Amino acid sequence: MTTPIIRRLDDLRANLREWKRNGDLVGVVPTMGALHDGHLSLVRAAKASCDRVIVTLFVNPRQFNSPEDFAKYPRTEIADAEILAPLDVDALFVPHVAEMYPLAHATTISISGVSEPLEGAHRPGHFDGVATVVALLFNMTQADRAFFGEKDWQQLLVVQRMVTDLRLPVEIVPCPSIRTESGLALSSRNQRLSDQARARAVALPEALFEAADAIAKGKTVDNAIASARARISIAGFDDIEYLELRDSATLGPAQADRPARLLVAAWLDGVRLIDNVAVPPSS
Ligand code: PAF
Repeated sequence: MTTPIIRRLDDLRANLREWKRNGDLVGVVPTMGALHDGHLSLVRAAKASCDRVIVTLFVNPRQFNSPEDFAKYPRTEIADAEILAPLDVDALFVPHVAEMYPLAHATTISISGVSEPLEGAHRPGHFDGVATVVALLFNMTQADRAFFGEKDWQQLLVVQRMVTDLRLPVEIVPCPSIRTESGLALSSRNQRLSDQARARAVALPEALFEAADAIAKGKTVDNAIASARARISIAGFDDIEYLELRDSATLGPAQADRPARLLVAAWLDGVRLIDNVAVPPSS
C-alpha cells in the first residue's frame, strides 16, 4: 500500500467533492511531519471514527520564532509517507508554501486569552501562526473532525477557542500524549537530542508526575514546583522557561476545586522540550 500524496488544493477538493457526495465523514490530522507514534495514534483515532482520513504535512513558517528553528525542523516526507502506508489514509496533503500563503495573503487569526501565557509569552506570534494555518487547513480539508494531541495542551485549547468563537463546523478530538517506556513524551524535536540527552530528558516527565502526585496528596504547589525545578536542573537542563500549575481549561490561575494542568517548557542541549500532566481537583 502506498500513501496517496496530494500537493494541490484543487486536487484535494476534487477528492473531497466525491467523498462529501457519498456522505463520508472526513477526519484530519494536521502535522508538520517527522511523524512518530504520537502522530500515528492520532491517525488511528481518526481512522476509527471517520470514513475518510487526511493527514496534512506542512512545516508552517509562520509559527516559528526564528528562521534557524524553522530551518532546523526535520523534513522527512518520504519516511512520513512510508510510515503512514500501513494505516491506509486517504490522502497525505503536502501543500507548497505558495498554496498556503500566496503572495497577497494578508490574513492572520489572533486569539486572545488562552494563547497569551506560557508558550504565548515565550514565543510571541507563535499561536497567531498556528491558528492561521489550522483555520486554513480546516477550510481546505473541509474536515468534520480534527485530531490533536494533548502533548501540546495550550495549542489544543487555542484551537478549541478558535473553533467555538468562529463557529467552525469541525469537532476537535483531543488524544492523550504518547510516551516512551521511560516516560518521555513523543515529539518530533526529540530527534534532535543525542542518546545521552534523551536519557537525561526523562527527568522532565518524572519531575512533572512526581509534582502532580505530591500536589494531589496535599503538598503546597510552591514546594512541589520547587522540587520539580531542582530535579530538572540537576538532570542538566540549561533553562526552565516556565513550570506552572494552571487551570486546565482557561490556563488562568489554578483553583483547588477545578482540574488543573502542570505545564513545562525547558531547554536541553539546544532543544526546547514541552510537556504537561493533569492534576485532579483536591476536593
Ligand atoms: O502541532 C503541530 O504539529 C502544529 O502546530 C500544527 C497543528 C500542525 C500546525 O502547524
